[in-house]
Amino acid sequence: MGYEGLPSELVTGNDEIDDQHQKLLETVESILSELDTGENYEEVKRLLDFLVAYIDEHFEEEESVMLKNRYPEFAQHKSEHDLFKMRIRTLHMSRQVTNHNHDILVLTVKEAKRWIIQHVMKSDIKLARYLKGIK
Ligand SMILES: [Fe+2]
Ligand SMILES: [Fe+2]
Repeated sequence: MGYEGLPSELVTGNDEIDDQHQKLLETVESILSELDTGENYEEVKRLLDFLVAYIDEHFEEEESVMLKNRYPEFAQHKSEHDLFKMRIRTLHMSRQVTNHNHDILVLTVKEAKRWIIQHVMKSDIKLARYLKGIK
């Protein structure tokens, strides 16, 4: 099952992690295109709920892989996850999804997209490289 859609600079080489990243980014894109049409805020809400839950799930998965494999940079990597989780949760709880804060939503989702991309390129690729090395 494919991460064909992941740009090459985001491919970690760990299939499971790559599939999850693809799903994260696809969800972010769906939210942005829903916001673009601006017609269905219920759908935006649904996607946002899914994104927040899926981020938790994905981070937990990575963290358990790190622990299992005694990843030396676990603490640093986890603190990046925790910080982002806090930010996205605050957004999720504090802002109602309506047409009144459309622009803020777009900006915030774009910022989340940027964070995910940066984190994958900097930290997740490093982790995947380590995992490959110890196998
Ligand atoms: Fe990560
Ligand atoms: Fe990740």
